[in-house]
Amino acid sequence: MNPLLSSPAWKDVERHAQGLRGRHLRDLFATDPTRFQRLSVRWNDWLLDLSKQRITPETLPLLAELWNSAAVPGWIARMRAGEPINHTEGRAVLHFALRHGGGPIMLDGADVMPDVRAVQGQMRGFCDAIHSGRWRGATGEPISDIVNIGIGGSDLGPRMATQALAAHHVPHLRVHFVANLDGADLATTLAGLAPRTTLFIIASKTFTTQETMQNAASARAWLTAALGEAAVSRHFVAISTALDRVAAFGIDPDNAFAFWDWVGGRFSLWSAIGLSLALAIGHEKFAQLLAGARAMDEHFFSAPPLENLPALLALIDLWNSDFLGLQTRALLPYSQSLGLLPRYLQQLEMESLGKQTDRDGKLVGCPTQPILWGEPGTNGQHAFYQLLHQGGRALSCEFIACRAADFPLAGHHAKLLANCFAQSAALMQGKTAAEACAELESAVPPAPTFLAPYKTFPGNQPSTTLLLPKLDPHTLGALIALYEHKVFTLGALWNLNAFDQWGVEYGKQIANTLLPMIEGKTPVANIDSSTAGLIAACK
Ligand code: F6P
Repeated sequence: MNPLLSSPAWKDVERHAQGLRGRHLRDLFATDPTRFQRLSVRWNDWLLDLSKQRITPETLPLLAELWNSAAVPGWIARMRAGEPINHTEGRAVLHFALRHGGGPIMLDGADVMPDVRAVQGQMRGFCDAIHSGRWRGATGEPISDIVNIGIGGSDLGPRMATQALAAHHVPHLRVHFVANLDGADLATTLAGLAPRTTLFIIASKTFTTQETMQNAASARAWLTAALGEAAVSRHFVAISTALDRVAAFGIDPDNAFAFWDWVGGRFSLWSAIGLSLALAIGHEKFAQLLAGARAMDEHFFSAPPLENLPALLALIDLWNSDFLGLQTRALLPYSQSLGLLPRYLQQLEMESLGKQTDRDGKLVGCPTQPILWGEPGTNGQHAFYQLLHQGGRALSCEFIACRAADFPLAGHHAKLLANCFAQSAALMQGKTAAEACAELESAVPPAPTFLAPYKTFPGNQPSTTLLLPKLDPHTLGALIALYEHKVFTLGALWNLNAFDQWGVEYGKQIANTLLPMIEGKTPVANIDSSTAGLIAACK
């Protein structure tokens, strides 16, 4: 069991939680008019409002004791020193080096920064060549369309950030993303493209992932059918830690961008995996993204827990999950541009922390990562918010909004903010039966009072609101790094290795045994009757 669970700090929080569980957020607001001031935190021009969480000003200092008891600062130091804190894979965790400013970052006695800078220089040169039209396709035409083929961490980060920074895209270049093994993904993407002006980026840390290898092979067949084998070197580049496999696939080593096993797939946006994004927004803006992440790194590495945004988000998640029993969290960005953030964070958080075996090979002994899901507002309001308000399930919500619009169309942004703040207020305060009744009676003309139970809202649904200045590369970089460090903190608190993903392997392993059965190459044997029946039904 996680030793933190038997610590005095944990017991103090448990005692405190017992006293708070019966209190309604509406009452907490009514009894403390300074609640917002006391429970919101600022960082530069960001605002993190925790006042709608089911906490009091006494809660956060108690939770901060967990940060100390779990020795989170010590884990940060070990990460920064290049220790193999991903112990099941024997790897260091140094993705922050990819946005590091100056000075060496040591791994096994060597500075990793010269290699990092060399690949960054290679990316810059490649972006310039594509943007200037110097890089030509096999028929001499400039590239108009980039297709990133990758999955998981080799897709979600650049895809999410490319959409998030739509207001910053360079003109005359379209960037597409293909991930799914289902041929519909690649086929529908290629349908609108011309081989002469299309360049593929094959992004895979391992260069063995089935989905990516299949899509890469099909993309290559599409290209060579039109332009011949010799065209591959002008239309394919690759990003991987396995440059030998890149060469074996037939991609020119000069067109390969390296990264390293100390970069976890879901933490790899900052590496050459971000090439598609750098092409979409230009290298200067990609550098601003890195600078934003660096600013968040410096904040996380130095701020005390009660002022430290990643620490606070982590402690609130732990509080909701382990002390209030909330097992889902809805991520609700009121930003169309951040529409893919929930999906991106599903991998970052659930692949990192969706575990029950702790660093010592024992059961953690408490609930860990909640189920994370979400949609951008206001769309979600017309889909699932009904359940949030009246479905009788307690969960935590996380609202993200920007003070200024990235696409400032007259009449839109104030309404968007009004909806965001209205939702968190409604979820917090609810509406009593008496209030509903009074509202119906005072309506003109008066409405039937039998509607009162239908118009009653329990409220007490906690939420966090993160208010950002404006979505730009710097802000986005800091936002992603915020969540990375939150994941790191929760890993330390739950005594989990947040950097492996053994749970993903088992399904892959079974798929490999089923494939020859579905293809009719081996008999359907040694599997359960349901799976055998499904295979038979496909024949
Ligand atoms: O989903 C499992 C996983 O290993 C992720 O961690 C990773 O981001 C993804 O597969 C893709 O892996 P690769 O970049 O090696 O193709």
